[in-house]
Formats: sequence, C-alpha cells, structure tokens
Amino acid sequence: MKNSKTLTNLARSFAGESQAGLRYQIIAELCIKQGYNTLATEIKTIAKNEVNHAKTYYDLLTDRNGTARNMEICAGYPFEKLTIEDGLKFSMDAEREEAENIYPEFAKIAAEEGFEEIAKKFELTAKVEKKHEQIFRFLYENFKNGTLFKNSKPAYWECSECGHIETLKEAWSICPLCGASQGFVQLKLN
Ligand SMILES: [Fe+2]
Ligand SMILES: [Fe+2]
Repeated sequence: MKNSKTLTNLARSFAGESQAGLRYQIIAELCIKQGYNTLATEIKTIAKNEVNHAKTYYDLLTDRNGTARNMEICAGYPFEKLTIEDGLKFSMDAEREEAENIYPEFAKIAAEEGFEEIAKKFELTAKVEKKHEQIFRFLYENFKNGTLFKNSKPAYWECSECGHIETLKEAWSICPLCGASQGFVQLKLN
C-alpha cells in the first residue's frame, strides 16, 4: 500500500469529500439566510453524505497505513464567493466530475493495484455522486427558473413547519395555517 497510487487517491478522496461537505453546508447557510429553508435541508442531507464519505476514506487510509503519517497531496481548492444559483451549479458540476471521471478512475487504479475492497468503495461512491448530481441539477434548474414551488399541473404541497397540505399549481406564499413563508414548503425532488 505504501507506495501505491491508491493510497494517494484515498487521501485525495478524504480531502475532496471533506471540502464538499463543508462547501454544501456553507451553501445551505446561504439558503437559510435568504429564506429557502427546505432547499437548505436538501443540501444539508447531501453535505452529511459527503462527510460520511470522507470518514469512510479516512478509515480506509488509517487502517492500512497507520495513523502517524503526514501526507502531502496536491489538489484544487476553488475559493469563490457564490450566490445560491452559482453554488448549485458548482455543486452539480463537481458531482458529475466525481461520478463520471474521478471515482471510476480511482476504482480502476485500485483494482489494478489489487485493492478490490477499496475499488468497490470507489465504485459505490460514484453511484451516490451520480444521484447527487441529479438532485443538484433539479435544484439548480428550478431555482434558476423560479419554479421550485410551481408545477405545470396541480401538485400536492406540504408545509414543513405545520404540515399544512394543499393541491395547487403554485404553493402558497404564506402558509394559511402557520404563516411560514414559501421557503418552508417541501420541495419535490422527482
Ligand atoms: Fe461524496
Ligand atoms: Fe456527492
């Protein structure tokens, strides 16, 4: 393991997933500040997934390599002040890159180097990132088009605060039961 590419790839995965986890939390906080509470909830769920990916890779790395080694790894660290729309686009693109290129490549290398169990973890992660890409795509497109709370046909909407439900083409701007704003209406992810 010591001189393998897979060891470096585990460290890169840990770094990338840690970054993604925190970046998504930052975007979620921005959503809350602007009143998009259920959008923030969806993003926080994905952030939690990324933190758990990071932990998985941390454990794989330390189990194989011991705990007392400092590794220097080279990676991109983009710093940009993002709007919600930019943040959703950034996240969607990052997830696609992970799902289609990064993890399949890491899996291939791990298999070639004889680390079957680690190759499997990379493959499973790629599948999750594909799902994340789809969620971010939905959020990005609907946020950009102003259709997060609109539907072409009457749809079932629910207030995440009080549970108020109604079937409408567009969700209420203020909940008639509890007064929560539209940003608290549950999103429709599919
Ligand atoms: Fe991840
Ligand atoms: Fe992801």
